[in-house]
Amino acid sequence: MRRISLFDTTLRDGEQSPGVNLNVKEKLEIARQLERLGMDVIEAGFPASSNSDLLAVQEIAKTVKNSSITGLARSVKGDIDAAWEALKYSEEPRIHVFLATSPIHMKYKLNKTPDQVIETAVNAVKYAAKYFPVIQWSAEDACRSELPFLAKIVEEVIAAGAKIINIPDTVGYITPKEYGEIFKYLQQNVKGIENITLSSHCHDDLGMAVANALAAIENGVNQIEGTINGLGERAGNTALEELAVALHIRNDYYNATTGLVLNEIKRTSDLVSNLTGMIVPANKAVVGKNAFAHEAGIHQDGVLKEKTTYEIISPELVGVTTNSMVLGKHSGRHAFKSRLVELGYSLSDEELNKMFKAFKELTETKKEITDEDLKALMLEEKVAT
Ligand code: KIV
Ligand code: ZN
Repeated sequence: MRRISLFDTTLRDGEQSPGVNLNVKEKLEIARQLERLGMDVIEAGFPASSNSDLLAVQEIAKTVKNSSITGLARSVKGDIDAAWEALKYSEEPRIHVFLATSPIHMKYKLNKTPDQVIETAVNAVKYAAKYFPVIQWSAEDACRSELPFLAKIVEEVIAAGAKIINIPDTVGYITPKEYGEIFKYLQQNVKGIENITLSSHCHDDLGMAVANALAAIENGVNQIEGTINGLGERAGNTALEELAVALHIRNDYYNATTGLVLNEIKRTSDLVSNLTGMIVPANKAVVGKNAFAHEAGIHQDGVLKEKTTYEIISPELVGVTTNSMVLGKHSGRHAFKSRLVELGYSLSDEELNKMFKAFKELTETKKEITDEDLKALMLEEKVAT
């Protein structure tokens, strides 16, 4: 089975989510939990962006030993120097340098010709090689770049010393099939690529980040970048907890695995949500409040008889202690009775009929019926005292 390496950028791209600002202590707390989760690589920040980010990356590089630590740098000496200042304490200093390669970015953002872009990228990689044993190079906006140009620049940066080539879908534009074809093209047209780790970095603007990352895996990519809870610039990045669980559950299809300790997922998601203030939507896959909740009577009845009728992921797998039956207007007698039994009530058929009628009436005015509501209802209907 293939082992896919996971590269977490919650502390860099994730922190670029509008409204998110983590201090050094918070970043360190998240990094430690990412280490417990079994993350292979942690992108701890962008050291040249601020003094506090440099300090945070430095602190993480000194403390976290079971995950590789990296930091982002533009293709300029000052950024690479700052990255070294932050990462020199790490067990295996690793830098992530990037430069845009799409016509639109080269013309409007960089104001450089394609040849100048190649020269800048090569010089940056050579400069980084003076300090760093491991260099990852990213072609920003790779998915809107011209493929022959992308292949050319990738070949040049490999010759200059890059060991990992990352192909970001910076603006979340690509489809899974097209993304896979880019990797196939590079594998067929770049000299030296067979000795390189290929990496995927996707954004979720069209809701395809996880699907695109999975397509990359199907096309020979062995490193997937993403974040916890899918945080990140604009609509966010590949949600790594979704990707890892998809590989686990559909192992029959992908024949690939990650090093994640899956039952640490929920704890990690909660910590990231609490410290960033980014609330996880209730219906979010794997970590949302409703991901293991069942409301419809038919579903509740099925799950009470046999969980796998409506649950493809067991909540315990990702560290959620139990699935939950949400009592609401779609719930049936089976789930209702079973909750009352859990609360310690034992009702005759007649009492159950009476209570079920009162419960259904209550759902006309209240969306979710809690245990406290049920206890109050039992008192009101004089079934319990
Ligand atoms: O989305 C992107 O292109 C990035 C790069 C800096 C890797 O985040
Ligand atoms: Zn990004």
